[in-house]
Amino acid sequence: MNSQVPVGLAAAAEASAGWQNILLQPQAEGVYLLTVNRPKVLNALNADTLAELDQALDLVAKTPAIRVLLVTGSGEKAFVAGADIAHMRQLSALEGKFFAEQGMAVFRKLENLRVPVIALVNGYALGGGCELAMSCDFILAAENARFGQPEVNLGVTPGFGGSQRLTRLVGRGMAMELLTTGRMMNAAEALQRGLANHVYPQAELLGEGIRLAEQIATKSRSAVQLTKQLVQRGQDLDLDNACVMESDVFGLSFSTPDREEGMAAFLEGRKPEFS
Ligand code: CAA
Repeated sequence: MNSQVPVGLAAAAEASAGWQNILLQPQAEGVYLLTVNRPKVLNALNADTLAELDQALDLVAKTPAIRVLLVTGSGEKAFVAGADIAHMRQLSALEGKFFAEQGMAVFRKLENLRVPVIALVNGYALGGGCELAMSCDFILAAENARFGQPEVNLGVTPGFGGSQRLTRLVGRGMAMELLTTGRMMNAAEALQRGLANHVYPQAELLGEGIRLAEQIATKSRSAVQLTKQLVQRGQDLDLDNACVMESDVFGLSFSTPDREEGMAAFLEGRKPEFS
């Protein structure tokens, strides 16, 4: 599919109908929920599920009606309990590398979506599940959330970016502790360490996620998406180049109709109506 051609919501619904392990459902104006749906194995990620996730992200990228994406796992026990161990057990070294590359590419695609992506961690987020959550723009956790990279217990290393993203998010020392002990962090600790932005009772997690996503969806689409690009691209640049990038993008934002409307609305004392 050509990812440049926008599709409407009906076409998007039709395209997603064939998936076995991924659901993509509207929740509110501009807000969609992507669910990893393999509850019998705590939503573990095998190659087929990653392939469907990849297709789902392509669809999100070319559906302009989707302005904020929420990501969660099916059921009340797990977000995603990791890469599928039964699947990985059969892989040779080279196939293991290809599996890691598949996961990395899909998570990078998620990270690079134009729209903001919020992880709703509703239980275990382990290994590939923690890596999936960390590839989202930020994390909201349920009180029963558990985060960890337990790969050392399986005699392997993280494979979908965990050693790199966890280090960037919680710092080298804490990442080393978590990666080498395989211990799980509960939601309160994840909040304290800045991995999760907020913690809610499980029954309230989706509602709170939708509420926050709706707030974002009412803002200027172009400003939100350019801001995401700045944060994503800037974090790996030195400060001088990152600031040059920000001034370039700031200038670019002056060319948008939303800039006209946003500033006019402020000066006229009314609410902006963004395009
Ligand atoms: N892969 C495959 N199947 C899994 C799974 C996984 N990652 N996690 C859970 N399951 C399956 C279990 O085998 C079990 O299946 P059966 O009912 O057929 O026996 C079912 O899900 C329910 O799991 P449990 O009975 O184990 O549930 P529990 O409540 O006793 O324990 C748990 C929950 C602590 C999350 C435990 O399931 C667990 O430790 N899972 C594995 C976590 C893990 O090691 N994840 C990292 C994988 S490696 C990785 O992800 C590498 C990478 O970076 C890419």
